[in-house]
Amino acid sequence: MTGGRAVFIVGCGDLGRRVARLARQDGRPVGALVRDETSAQALRTRGIAALVGDLDRRDSLPPLALGGATVFYFVPPQGGGYSDARVKNFLAALAPGEIPARLVYLSTSGVYGDTGGVPATESMAPRPLTARARRRLDAEDTLRAWGTARNVPVVILRVTNIYGPGRLPLHHLQTGHPLLAEEDSRPTSRIHVEDLARICLAAEKRGRAGAVYNVRDEEPCSATAYFAAVAAAAGLACPPRIPLSEAREVMKPLLLSYFTEERLLCNDRMRRELQVELLYPTLAAGLAASLSSVSAGPDDGPADKNP
Ligand SMILES: NC(=O)c1ccc[n+]([C@@H]2O[C@H](COP(=O)([O-])OP(=O)(O)OC[C@H]3O[C@@H](n4cnc5c(N)ncnc54)[C@H](OP(=O)(O)O)[C@@H]3O)[C@@H](O)[C@H]2O)c1
Repeated sequence: MTGGRAVFIVGCGDLGRRVARLARQDGRPVGALVRDETSAQALRTRGIAALVGDLDRRDSLPPLALGGATVFYFVPPQGGGYSDARVKNFLAALAPGEIPARLVYLSTSGVYGDTGGVPATESMAPRPLTARARRRLDAEDTLRAWGTARNVPVVILRVTNIYGPGRLPLHHLQTGHPLLAEEDSRPTSRIHVEDLARICLAAEKRGRAGAVYNVRDEEPCSATAYFAAVAAAAGLACPPRIPLSEAREVMKPLLLSYFTEERLLCNDRMRRELQVELLYPTLAAGLAASLSSVSAGPDDGPADKNP
């Protein structure tokens, strides 16, 4: 136990609970904001000082006295509009004179939009194509401007797809729904949720104020290749692959966009500056851990990689 700066997690779901576990293992006090009393009680039994408040309702939020703490902000924007009202409600709820010492914001690679087949680097200007991506960019801009005005370092992580225990497309595979043909499925990337939790803590420690870091593992591949790898690792039959013309007729738009949206990310800055040795740099390692029977809920830590 080393102790250290308090941690406060806004949106303490799968990722938040992993960050909380790692911080507590380091002897740090951990608090969190969650939406309901049941979630709060569950966190309190794990030693997390949970407060209840809904970021969609400013009047439900308690004053947040976060002076000196590191905030990890993991709540996605609300469903509509072009700006993130939740982030604004969070900032409005900060108690006067109780400003956090640092803030790490979890954003998405969606803010880059279409990079025309070029891997996105952090120095590229974001060109969000969807309302959802515009809300993310608004959250980034709001938090960065807030940090600059108050001299609070804000670090932004742009993450593609998160996978891990309990978040694999097993249902899709079990029901035999088709996949897009490999030649039509665009390259994308992923990160195992446990590695992401460790990257969040490294961003707190080593991230530069105002900097953006792309986050992915070392094995980008298409969504179709990902589904096939999950099927193989789980011992499931790989569903049929269908061409784009057929997929447009039978796949729901969200699923089709998952297969066709290219998400090429350069992670050089993450490797160089955050210096996290990934537990699961490859899909094979990450899938084995995600499917292991001793794996690894958010509160339990990663499975032994070499059982
Ligand atoms: N899935 C992906 O591949 C992916 C990729 C990139 C980025 N992300 C983002 O990564 C972040 C963390 O992911 P995760 O897997 O840990 O998500 P998660 O388990 O869904 O956690 C998000 C947390 O935010 C809380 N929340 C939502 N709306 C709220 C509100 N109005 N007020 C207060 N709290 C609220 C949720 O509370 P409840 O438990 O009450 O719902 C939940 O605890 C999210 O922002 C997610 O959008 C995800």
